[in-house]
This record gives sequence, C-alpha cells and structure tokens, in this order.
Amino acid sequence: MNTKSVTKSLISSMSIFLILQIKLLIQIMMRKKTHLNVLALYHYFREHFKDEETLMKQYHYPDYAEHVKNHEELSKKLSEINDGIVTGETSLDEVAEFMQNWVHGHILEEDLILGKFLHRIKSEKTLTE
Ligand SMILES: [Fe+2]
Repeated sequence: MNTKSVTKSLISSMSIFLILQIKLLIQIMMRKKTHLNVLALYHYFREHFKDEETLMKQYHYPDYAEHVKNHEELSKKLSEINDGIVTGETSLDEVAEFMQNWVHGHILEEDLILGKFLHRIKSEKTLTE
C-alpha cells in the first residue's frame, strides 16, 4: 500500500464507518441482529489498523507506539460494545457516543496526522528522485 492508497483508504474508511454507524443505530433501535454489524465493523477496522501499522513501520512514523496503542484501545472498546449489545447492557446513547469519539478522536485527528506525515514523506521522496 502506498501513500496515495492510504489516503484513499482513510477517506473510504470514514464513509464506510458512517454508513455502518447509521445502519447499526437503526438496527439497535429495532433490536435485530445488531451484534453482527458490530462484528463486521470490528473485522473491517482490524484490517484497516493492520494496513496503517504496516505503513507506519515502513516509514518509521515517530508516533507509531502511541497510534498502535490507540488502535488496541478502540478494538477493545468495540469488542466490549459488542458484548454489551448482545447482553442488552449497552444503550443506544453509549454506542453513538463511542462512534462519535472514534470519528473525532481518532479518524479526524490521529489518522489525518498520519496521512499528512505519509504525504510529506512521499513529497520528499519525489523531490529526491
Ligand atoms: Fe489509525
């Protein structure tokens, strides 16, 4: 995966995330097979996290450890949310708050900083080639 494709991947992650979020919230309201969508979200983002982590390693991203720690925390919380939905202990408000925090706290901050870093690396490489 190169920097152009990671930028595309970040953008598509956001779109997919928002679509799944809406779908999930509707299903929570209907109380039908909601955990299946949370699991789909979990698997999708584990793959996305792996791609990002490979790129961070490849380009010696200075905040690698912190970013990976953040991915692990998000995965753990998502897994807990899924368990809570299955047992009925997680409310609609809790899921919505988690999703919003994820979009604003990680995708729109940490991932964008990473995207800019990769873009800068690519620009520097292009100049020296
Ligand atoms: Fe990330």
